[in-house]
Amino acid sequence: MRTLAHISDLHFGREDPVVVEGLLRSLEEAKADVIVVSGDLTQRAKKKQFRAAKAFLAEMPKVPRVVVPGNHDVSTTNLFERVVRPLKRYRRFISQDLTPFWSDAEVAIAGINTVRLMSTKDGRMNRVQVEKACGQFATAAGAAVKVVVTHHPIDVAADDLKHPTLTRSKMAMARFAECGVDLFLSGHLHVGLTLSSSVRYPLAGYSAVVVHAGTAVSTRTRKEANGWNLIRVSEGGIFVQRMVWGGKRFRRGDMETYRKTPIGWERQAAESVS
Ligand SMILES: [Fe+2]
Ligand SMILES: [Fe+2]
Repeated sequence: MRTLAHISDLHFGREDPVVVEGLLRSLEEAKADVIVVSGDLTQRAKKKQFRAAKAFLAEMPKVPRVVVPGNHDVSTTNLFERVVRPLKRYRRFISQDLTPFWSDAEVAIAGINTVRLMSTKDGRMNRVQVEKACGQFATAAGAAVKVVVTHHPIDVAADDLKHPTLTRSKMAMARFAECGVDLFLSGHLHVGLTLSSSVRYPLAGYSAVVVHAGTAVSTRTRKEANGWNLIRVSEGGIFVQRMVWGGKRFRRGDMETYRKTPIGWERQAAESVS
């Protein structure tokens, strides 16, 4: 069993400092094995905002982390930078690595950059990126739960007609089914959500768990309080615990359980934990 802390959409520049402190405390208590950050570390990709994001990452528990950029991490004010080096500041302050990968005997996590120059809002994934992630997974232990991290979601709720999935998501999902991806983590929409991939992508014998995180610390909340996900994974089970800001600290919210079955990961039950 491994525990992943999945945080997203920090939006430094629009952060609530009280929630930032609360998140750091909550992450300490969670004792996660790995921390995943699924993009939008800053509000407008300004140096000051990246410095604040970097300082925050340095204060997080010293465990492995997999971090990917979001559309807000691309400069919108400097056209030259935007065209020539769109993620220059992200690379400078956060990480040079836009294809981060971490694995041990129980979990393998591949981060993919879905930010594109010409479509700042909606993300995209290409075949090279998908093949690279599958190649990384091929090096992992056979029993490891395989996790893909993107900023933009590869899947959204079937009744969500407002938000698109990332471009080329159908191609990506078909290949990820072949290389056995179990879990997709993303952000961007600022609303926490858990889905089964087989509703939108019916593929024989395959259904992955798709988890969106809300915004962890920013004031850009939509419909719900700040939140993040505490996810336990093992060969037979994926448990998604929603962590919700309660005004003074993060509290445990709903938990969803998925079990591995011959037709993929199946949702078991939702239970509310106060
Ligand atoms: Fe965001
Ligand atoms: Fe975003």
